[in-house]
Amino acid sequence: MAFSVCLVLFLALPLKHGLGLFINSSSSNSSNNSELLAILNATNLSVDLLLRIDVMTGENASLTTTETPLSLESIIRAEINRDWERGRLVLDLASMVRTVQLKHAIYEALWLELQQMQQIYNPLKLLDFYTELEQLSDVPPPLLEKVYQALVQSSAQLLSAPFHASSQCAIFPLVTQLLQRLTLSTLDYLKDILEALFNVILALESNLGVVQRLGSFSDNLTQLTQANLQLQQRPELQLDEQAHRALVQNLRTLLEQSTFIEEVEYALQQQVYAQLPEADRILYTAQKVCLRNVSDAYGYIYECPQTYLICTNAHDPRKASYNLQRGHGGLNNSLQFAFYSSYWNNHYIFLEPSNHTAPNAIIKNIYSRDAINWWYAVIQEDGTSVALFDAATNSSVLCGGDQQYWDTGEEHVYTRNAEEFANYRRECVWRIEDCSYIEK
Ligand SMILES: *[C@@H]1O[C@H](CO)[C@@H](O)[C@H](O)[C@H]1NC(C)=O
Ligand SMILES: *[C@@H]1O[C@H](CO)[C@@H](O)[C@H](O)[C@H]1NC(C)=O
Ligand SMILES: *[C@@H]1O[C@H](CO)[C@@H](O)[C@H](O)[C@H]1NC(C)=O
Ligand SMILES: *[C@@H]1O[C@H](CO)[C@@H](O)[C@H](O)[C@H]1NC(C)=O
Ligand SMILES: *[C@@H]1O[C@H](CO)[C@@H](O)[C@H](O)[C@H]1NC(C)=O
Ligand SMILES: *[C@@H]1O[C@H](CO)[C@@H](O)[C@H](O)[C@H]1NC(C)=O
Ligand SMILES: *[C@@H]1O[C@H](CO)[C@@H](O)[C@H](O)[C@H]1NC(C)=O
Ligand SMILES: *[C@@H]1O[C@H](CO)[C@@H](O)[C@H](O)[C@H]1NC(C)=O
Ligand SMILES: *[C@@H]1O[C@H](CO)[C@@H](O)[C@H](O)[C@H]1NC(C)=O
Ligand SMILES: *[C@@H]1O[C@H](CO)[C@@H](O)[C@H](O)[C@H]1NC(C)=O
Ligand SMILES: *[C@@H]1O[C@H](CO)[C@@H](O)[C@H](O)[C@H]1NC(C)=O
Repeated sequence: MAFSVCLVLFLALPLKHGLGLFINSSSSNSSNNSELLAILNATNLSVDLLLRIDVMTGENASLTTTETPLSLESIIRAEINRDWERGRLVLDLASMVRTVQLKHAIYEALWLELQQMQQIYNPLKLLDFYTELEQLSDVPPPLLEKVYQALVQSSAQLLSAPFHASSQCAIFPLVTQLLQRLTLSTLDYLKDILEALFNVILALESNLGVVQRLGSFSDNLTQLTQANLQLQQRPELQLDEQAHRALVQNLRTLLEQSTFIEEVEYALQQQVYAQLPEADRILYTAQKVCLRNVSDAYGYIYECPQTYLICTNAHDPRKASYNLQRGHGGLNNSLQFAFYSSYWNNHYIFLEPSNHTAPNAIIKNIYSRDAINWWYAVIQEDGTSVALFDAATNSSVLCGGDQQYWDTGEEHVYTRNAEEFANYRRECVWRIEDCSYIEK
């Protein structure tokens, strides 16, 4: 072990090859590439020689025989002169040196120097260094791996800072910078970093705290999606229902972003849908849906038999399937939905605006109309049903089933005051079904 380190790091540099020249050029900020290359070229790894000494005499490798040795490390240190940017120059030159061994020795020495300079704690520097090494064809894989692991660990260390902060909105400029820099690299880096990050923070912070903080982890939707999906897979969360629910909420918030579909790649979107309850999957992906009474299969929403009001009716797939339109708007520019039927002459499920004034009152103001009408969908805990609130005011909720309000053989649906939703949950929650398979 000691021997191989020695092999790599120490070179016989004949002093007569102009160390003075080298030091002059580096200290005068006029580092001349060809001079430095000549110096690097002049260093001699003497691998054969070292081996011969070791094998034949049993002596430790010693280079002090005829010429004073100088470690490549010290040459590189002098050249870099505490300005890491100059490491780049050395890296460029490495591709031009005489032998592969020398090349490897230069990479190792640069890595050592980076550590000496404490830059090992700076993920941005490590990321630059790693990216450059990776582009070279002949960097020894174990060295690449070492640099990569250091990059992952120091990134995780930095990204953990916001998770320990008491305020959700504290700003960490370096964290932002690192996350932005990471968007230029493959998502695999982020995956490894997140795993290391979760190792650290889940040991120190509560699951729920981590989930909540992760909701605003990054401005980049891809990174945010990846982070939440990965956290959901962690064993720590498997038995923690509260944290799990909060995480589902994070994912829903993501889906509600207007740019989610265009920004996040398709495969990642599918992973999100796969993690969510059925009602989410249907709301976010289905082309057509049917809405029906949760407990009664004779309770599908569509146009009444005689009037242009909307009723609950027997199951008839063509009549019951509504195209689902998605949009953003309403009070908080949130995700909202509209239901239109090609069977019913392209009419929408439409709410005629009106105010609920008396307590516990209902209003029969749901029509089949050709004007669009937007609804918020609040997914219920069972994961298969939704409550629909009118998006314009969020003051009405769509309900049905109370026979008092049915007449002339029509089972009219109606609205209640949204604030009374909790008292009328049985009347105001609808099973949502994927009816995309139904042709017109
Ligand atoms: C350093 O360079 C300057 C000119 O760039 C030269 O005059 C001087 O002799 C050099 N010093 C050594 C030690 O080579
Ligand atoms: C070194 O030279 C470059 C131009 O070649 C200059 O931009 C830089 O400021 C110089 N650095 C020092 C420390 O003199
Ligand atoms: C760099 O050094 C080489 C020879 O060592 C010389 O020919 C060349 O002119 C030098 N270039 C500069 C910019 O000093
Ligand atoms: C260094 O060695 C390489 C490979 O033998 C050669 O192409 C290059 O010209 C040498 N450079 C100098 C400055 O000696
Ligand atoms: C390096 O050492 C070998 C012998 O091990 C010798 O043949 C070669 O000339 C040396 N090269 C330089 C540049 O000193
Ligand atoms: C070689 O070096 C090691 C440590 O540097 C020392 O313990 C060992 O005795 C040396 N062996 C010889 C043969 O000098
Ligand atoms: C978000 O990050 C991904 C890669 O992680 C990148 O491809 C995408 O361009 C970034 N989006 C924005 C808006 O910066
Ligand atoms: C909508 O925004 C208001 C104030 O801007 C806020 O109080 C309310 O909680 C938001 N509602 C939702 C569902 O985000
Ligand atoms: C509902 O009440 C608000 C104020 O309380 C009023 O501005 C609005 O016009 C009313 N809407 C309807 C449809 O009666
Ligand atoms: C569903 O049917 C039950 C039983 O008929 C009824 O009590 C309930 O109000 C209905 N709910 C809806 C949303 O239609
Ligand atoms: C709409 O009202 C319901 C019930 O009052 C509430 O749970 C929901 O957060 C509201 N949504 C918005 C966007 O304000």
